Amino acid sequence: MAVLSIRTLPDPVLRQKAKRVRSFDKSIHRLIDDMLETMHSASGVGLAAPQVGVPLRVIVIGIPDEEELALINPQIVRKTGERLVNEGCLSIPGYFAQVKRAEIVRAKGLDRSGKEIRLRANELLAQALEHEIDHLNGILYVDHLESMDELRPVEPATDELLA
Ligand code: NI
Repeated sequence: MAVLSIRTLPDPVLRQKAKRVRSFDKSIHRLIDDMLETMHSASGVGLAAPQVGVPLRVIVIGIPDEEELALINPQIVRKTGERLVNEGCLSIPGYFAQVKRAEIVRAKGLDRSGKEIRLRANELLAQALEHEIDHLNGILYVDHLESMDELRPVEPATDELLA
């Protein structure tokens, strides 16, 4: 496994629509393992492949005290409710903001062997799923803000999601 370098704005790969994965070979397994290691080394709770320069529809999520999750070609099936949460992004270091996210997110995708996974998520996992799937569509959390003036510098011990 390897720690990959994380792309930051204005890297154009962050604005591309990522492509669907069609073959579940060793290179996808290696990508997932490297993304997990990169996420942990950056103390993030999620990472999308475009953030390591790979324009494919692959995300990993690692919520503290929960099992790690890798999803290929993930899709949000349904979103319910609305809440305000603090959010940051490893590709926009040093800042966070309050964004509106769903309360409950139903999503589906494939695991590393190509088997379908369905999830019903709330709290941090729901937020991470929305954030990472946005990345696959070239969308960053700052796009959900009315103005960049809403960005705040990160202070130690804030509770934003970093992904
Ligand atoms: Ni992010």
